[in-house]
Amino acid sequence: MLTLKKIKTVKGEIRVPSDKSISHRAILISSIAEGKSVIKNWLVSEDTKATFNAVLQLGVQAHIKGNEVIVEGRNYLFSEPSDIIDAKNSGTTARLLMGVLSTQEFFSVITGDESLRNRPMLRVVEPLRQMGAWLDGREKGNKLPVAIRGGKLKGISFFNKKASAQVKSALLLASLKADGITEITEPYLSRDHTERMLRLFGAEITQLEGKDGHIVKLKGGQKLHACEIYCPADPSSSAFFVALAVLTEGSELILKDVLVNPTRDGFFRKLKQMGARLEYINLREISGEPIADIWVKGEGRLKGIDIREEDVPSLIDELPILALIMALAEGTSSVRGAHELRIKESDRIKAIVENLRSMGAKIEEYEDGFYIEGVEKLRGAHIKTYKDHRIAMTFSIAGLVAEGETIIDHPECVSVSYPEFYKDLERLIHQT
Ligand code: S3P
Repeated sequence: MLTLKKIKTVKGEIRVPSDKSISHRAILISSIAEGKSVIKNWLVSEDTKATFNAVLQLGVQAHIKGNEVIVEGRNYLFSEPSDIIDAKNSGTTARLLMGVLSTQEFFSVITGDESLRNRPMLRVVEPLRQMGAWLDGREKGNKLPVAIRGGKLKGISFFNKKASAQVKSALLLASLKADGITEITEPYLSRDHTERMLRLFGAEITQLEGKDGHIVKLKGGQKLHACEIYCPADPSSSAFFVALAVLTEGSELILKDVLVNPTRDGFFRKLKQMGARLEYINLREISGEPIADIWVKGEGRLKGIDIREEDVPSLIDELPILALIMALAEGTSSVRGAHELRIKESDRIKAIVENLRSMGAKIEEYEDGFYIEGVEKLRGAHIKTYKDHRIAMTFSIAGLVAEGETIIDHPECVSVSYPEFYKDLERLIHQT
């Protein structure tokens, strides 16, 4: 349990921990490449450690020193794990790993914690079966534990209906060892870190626009070569501090080295449309990804906004914190086409609606989102996090702007993406 009270402002500079999506991919792609890769500024968290431990179980030699990781790549020559691989709370670990393991003739099993064992896996299992791998698990392969015996794969054409980057990435990692070409089409471009990182490691990938959406094509049989990679600060973790600044008049923050890849920065772009004072400064590119420092200033109430299906992929993980800002904005706001939120680390639509309502927000639930009428103030409440890191961080920020006292259950769950979250928050809080 954690108790929080209203603060005045936040001020200063912060470099939040590195991007979780990029940190997972850096470990996996270094492992399938040939030679020794060096990963700088890696995110050390519970989720990324699950990926790191998984590759160790496959015989990869890897070492973490501070936040640098050295990985001796195995060029897809892994050894059969002698035990079940535990992806813990991490969907990215489980799903991307299924792609890698589908290329291996040996037997392996992936499981996860209670939340992950309830999340759908068929979206990855089915196309990998089409490529020629054998995968099975609970509920006909939809739920972990999932067992895999991979082998000789063939390229497929696949329509990624839900625009899931985890599905796309799993297939790309499998397709490098498949015969022929794999082609993935998605209605809206999902985060493209796998494509960018594979290019950095020397792969040839084609990206084009088709009549049904964005297409990515990759020819099997390409070898990856070891690299040095820099992991930028996570925009999803940065979003909590940006939110706190825009919700407290007089605050001013600079967030350093933030990943501003257009498939990820929807939250910052929408905040500007809501009237926030926010700028990207010192825009640059590192390891194939755009990075900037973000300057943000709290200057009074923002205006409501409507988020549609096509907006969702670039801000999917930021929707809980955006909902808090909407709850305090002037006028009405809505989110539609975000059904995927129901199958994240928790049912995030339910968690957002239930908790915001208990704080006095005016919010209605839809199957695929919610509708909000902004209020001027929220009041402290007892928050149920469902052990979901993004819900815990969202409502911790809510507790710092609401009247009275807010109690957060299971605040420790922030460690899956941001172990030092509360320490960093404390450092930036000014009581004047
Ligand atoms: C992720 C993709 C997204 C995102 C998740 C991380 C990734 O999930 O919500 O937090 O690293 O590829 P989906 O692929 O299910 O959309």
